[in-house]
Amino acid sequence: MTTALITGSTAGLGAAFARRLAARGHNLVLVARDTERLRKQATELHDRHGIEAEVLTADLATDEGIEAVATRLGDRHHPVDLLVNNAGFGNKGRYLEVPVADELRMLKVHCEAVLRLTTAAVEGMRERGRGGVINVASVAAFVPRGTYGASKAWVVQFTQGAARDVAADGVRLTALCPGFVRTEFHERAGMGTDNIPNWMWLDADKVVTAALDDFARGRTVSIPDPRYKALLGLTKLVPRNLLGGVSSTAGRKYGPGR
Ligand SMILES: NC(=O)c1ccc[n+]([C@@H]2O[C@H](COP(=O)([O-])OP(=O)(O)OC[C@H]3O[C@@H](n4cnc5c(N)ncnc54)[C@H](OP(=O)(O)O)[C@@H]3O)[C@@H](O)[C@H]2O)c1
Repeated sequence: MTTALITGSTAGLGAAFARRLAARGHNLVLVARDTERLRKQATELHDRHGIEAEVLTADLATDEGIEAVATRLGDRHHPVDLLVNNAGFGNKGRYLEVPVADELRMLKVHCEAVLRLTTAAVEGMRERGRGGVINVASVAAFVPRGTYGASKAWVVQFTQGAARDVAADGVRLTALCPGFVRTEFHERAGMGTDNIPNWMWLDADKVVTAALDDFARGRTVSIPDPRYKALLGLTKLVPRNLLGGVSSTAGRKYGPGR
């Protein structure tokens, strides 16, 4: 039986990864900040699927939280075969409206934690000659839109580069780039979603199924829906300097409200 560690497992995409991987018979290490919610999730997944689910409470915006998860990933006696770096959040507001401390917290969770946890996991995977990492980015990685998009662009670039470097060692990495997904993300950030048309919303379970298929096929970037593949294809036709304007106009029209 293999083990998967999922950060941000208690809600949204992370919870969908946990459900799907448990249904496929993987043992789980569930990571988030809310211990009670983690315990309830672990019990439900154990009872429903007969798998072992460990709970690891950690705040990935802190060094202690990142270290605790990195230590678990480095445990050679209880190897982790699949790491899903999923924990993340949005900050409401444009550049200069968001306090720099909040932007730095985002970079810590989206970039520093992803770097340190991927490294902690991949070192052991390399020795064993197998394993993988799914890093949850966003389609926001492909358009110039604030710190959120910039942090997700880092996730995509980092994952693609690392995937190339460790491919010969039997380790696989995929950056997952969903569009809008119905989760707790927007509500937690205090963003209204009334402006986002229905057709732009994706279902978390479908996104995860597509992501795991792309991961199994060895794709380093997964864009899990034809609508968003088409939209991203169009962005390639627009010059980069115009794209910022187009994306911020579209973001104001269709993106999360303020
Ligand atoms: N929803 C979308 O439209 C969308 C689109 C593209 C990409 N994404 C990305 O998908 C990922 C998951 O987002 P989601 O939409 O599923 O969000 P969500 O429903 O709000 O869930 C976020 C999860 O992350 C955990 N978390 C948040 N901050 C954390 C921290 N500092 N340390 C540890 N855990 C933390 C939360 O649990 P606790 O609060 O208990 O810690 C929760 O389990 C994120 O990386 C997000 O950027 C989302």
